[in-house]
Amino acid sequence: WLTFGLIVVGGYLLGSIPFGLIATRLGGAGDIRKIGSGNIGATNVLRSGRKDLAAITLIGDAGKGAVAVLIAHLLTRGDPAAVALAGGSAFFGHLFPVWLKFKGGKGVATFYGVLLSACWPVGILAGITWLAVAFLFRLSSLAALTAAALAPLFAFATDQPYPMILLALFMAVLIYIRHHENIRRLLKGEEPKIGAKKAAPP
Ligand code: G3P
Repeated sequence: WLTFGLIVVGGYLLGSIPFGLIATRLGGAGDIRKIGSGNIGATNVLRSGRKDLAAITLIGDAGKGAVAVLIAHLLTRGDPAAVALAGGSAFFGHLFPVWLKFKGGKGVATFYGVLLSACWPVGILAGITWLAVAFLFRLSSLAALTAAALAPLFAFATDQPYPMILLALFMAVLIYIRHHENIRRLLKGEEPKIGAKKAAPP
């Protein structure tokens, strides 16, 4: 139980590191929460015009999810429940970071970092889905929403242990909740395309 507690708290704290906010502040791009959609994720950092900072955000936010999963893997010799718990905690930390009064990001990069390290076939399939939808429609949110919806099905279809299927489902539900404004914009046809500098205000 001590290990599980450590995994949950450690995962949450790792996940709550806001790489987008830190990268834009240190990189001199200002407060990302005042740019574009106001989100702290890589898609919005790209709207600041700084591809380097967007890449750092993507790698940092995905990496922290992967690190949380790998630590749980090492501590428990790959117990699926512990691994899923670590990934879920890191993901939750990104969405609700204590440092930002629980106002975090939308979780897409962390979702990928967690999936690729916890159950890589699901991560790869979800990644291909994102790329395909993003390539076709140039809408980051639509790509993420499609990949999130399919991830639990990919987990089921590739025979992942139950904790992984639940993990994918948990993250998918939270991604939908976090994207409610994007969904509204998508339905109205007002969602800005990838690469466009402008976005609806937060
Ligand atoms: O990864 C987040 C993306 O799906 C939407 O971001 O900034 O367009 O709301 P944003």
